[in-house]
Amino acid sequence: MLTVAVLISGAGSNLRALLEAAAAADFPARVIVVGADREADGLAHAEAFGIPSFVVPWPGAAEREAWGAELASQLEVWNPDLVVLSGLMRLLPGAVVERWSPRMINTHPAYLPEFPGAHAVRDAMVAGVAETGASVIVVDDGVDTGPILAQERVAVLPGDDEHALHERIKPVERRLLIDVVRRIAVGDLDLAASVL
Ligand code: GRF
Repeated sequence: MLTVAVLISGAGSNLRALLEAAAAADFPARVIVVGADREADGLAHAEAFGIPSFVVPWPGAAEREAWGAELASQLEVWNPDLVVLSGLMRLLPGAVVERWSPRMINTHPAYLPEFPGAHAVRDAMVAGVAETGASVIVVDDGVDTGPILAQERVAVLPGDDEHALHERIKPVERRLLIDVVRRIAVGDLDLAASVL
């Protein structure tokens, strides 16, 4: 049984989907802890599923390293097989990535390498593209530059605004994330090989 820690900053809808999938008896992974950089709304999903959670409040970019060290020490307590960033809106310090990658993956609401960074959906809207997408990648020391584990195109529809497009992308992210976690858990996806 693959043990998973999920890190969030926001609504945690992707976390919720993973919790629901992992509740199935035949799902080969389980979420053992949820971490956040603030009192994120998504922590309510952990509570609803009886999953422990922790918060390491973001102290500001000047203290990123100290924040990362505290986050890493919290993760060490749980020692998950896999860390999933799903809506964590912070760049992790290199030391944290080095400790966990490639057993650290991230969901991103764009078809990487298109539109990396914290405003992927807005950037796609501004670019006026006809389609964008969703990706699941291995976290490396760059900004959304790690090996792509899964991705799928999502059309941009006339009349879309950023919120509507993002809400259409998220279900695709969730499906890709759940499938990637499943494939890692059953050994169909070798993370170490993905970074060679
Ligand atoms: C997701 O699209 C994630 O890829 C991005 O922020 C969003 C988080 O959504 N980083 P939620 O908190 O899971 O609802």
